[in-house]
Amino acid sequence: MSPFHLTRTLAEDATDAALRADVHRGLTGRPKTLPPKWFYDAHGSDLFEKITELPEYYPTRAEREILLARSGDIAAATGARTLVELGSGSSEKTRHLLDALTDLHTYVPVDVSGSALTQAGQALAAERPGLDVHALIADFTAELTLPDTPGPRLVAFLGGTVGNLLPAERAAFLASVRALLAPGDALLLGTDLVKDEEVLVRAYDDGAGVTAAFNKNVLTVINRELGADFEPAAFDHVAVWDTGHEWIEMRLRSRSAQTVKVPALDLAVDFAAGEEMRTEVSAKFRQEGVRAELSAAQLDLTHWWTDGEGRFALSLSVAR
Ligand SMILES: C[S@@+](CC[C@H](N)C(=O)[O-])C[C@H]1O[C@@H](n2cnc3c(N)ncnc32)[C@H](O)[C@@H]1O
Repeated sequence: MSPFHLTRTLAEDATDAALRADVHRGLTGRPKTLPPKWFYDAHGSDLFEKITELPEYYPTRAEREILLARSGDIAAATGARTLVELGSGSSEKTRHLLDALTDLHTYVPVDVSGSALTQAGQALAAERPGLDVHALIADFTAELTLPDTPGPRLVAFLGGTVGNLLPAERAAFLASVRALLAPGDALLLGTDLVKDEEVLVRAYDDGAGVTAAFNKNVLTVINRELGADFEPAAFDHVAVWDTGHEWIEMRLRSRSAQTVKVPALDLAVDFAAGEEMRTEVSAKFRQEGVRAELSAAQLDLTHWWTDGEGRFALSLSVAR
C-alpha cells in the first residue's frame, strides 16, 4: 500500500458558513437558485454514481471511451509526474489515465465530497504501490493550495463539470487553474458538446427517476444542515434546454403554493404554485468556444479528441 494523505482545507465551520451564505442568497434571490456543489453529501455522491450508469446518461461512457483511446497520447504529451484532479468523485475513469501515466509520482484528487474522496483515494493507494495519493477536501472555486510535488503537473477536470459554472465563474475558474500551473504544464478538460435537444434533456431526466432524486437531495441537505422543512415530494424535477445559452437547466418546481422555513437562517420562504428554482446549469460546448475560453486564461489548446459519436470532447491545453 502506498502513502495516502487526506487534507481538509474546507474547515467544517467554513463549509457551514458557505452553505448558509449560498442558501440565503439563493432563496432570497429572483429567480430562486441553489448552487450545485451542495448536491454532493455521501448520498448525493452515491446518486451521481448511479446516474453515470443510466442508459440515458451518455457523458460518462463517451468520456471513458476517449480516455481508453487517448490516455497514452496524454501521457506522452505531458510526461506528468503529478496529476491533480478537480471534482474527482469516485476517480473511476481516472484509472485509465493512471494506468498510462507511467512516470506519475503523486495523484492529488480534490473534491468537496469527503466520503467519495476517502473511498476512492484509499482504494487507489491500496491498489497502486509506488503512487503517492494526496487527497484534498476543498472547493475548486476557491483558492487551492496544492502539496509541493514534482512536476510536470497535469490538472484534469473531467465529467463535463466545468459546464456547471456560469460563464463568468468559468473565466475566473480557468484563470485560477492556470495559476496552479508552470509554463508547459497542462490541463485536461472534459466538455460535453452541443447536440440534439432530446438526447440532452433525457440525459438529465431519466426514466428511472435517479436524476430527480439527485436534484431533490439538495433539499434534504438543507433540511439536515440548516433545520429547514422542505418536503421533497412537494417539488417536481424539471430539466430544460436553454437554446440561447446552450445549457441544460435543472430546476425544482413547487407543486403548490407553500412556505418553507429555514430556522438556521431565520428565514421563511414563499413559493408560488409552479414556481421554479434553478439548482444546476450544465453548459454544452463547441470547439471554438472552448479554445477561446482557454486562450483567455493563457492556456493553448493543443489536442481535441471526441468519442466516435462526437458527443463529448477531451481537450489538452498547455500553459503559456
Ligand atoms: C458531475 S460530478 C463528476 C465526477 C467525476 N469527475 C466524473 O467525471 O464522473 C462533479 C464532482 O465534483 C464535485 N464538486 C462539485 N462542486 C465542487 C466544488 N465547488 N469544489 C470541489 N468539488 C466539487 C462533486 O462532489 C462531484 O464529485
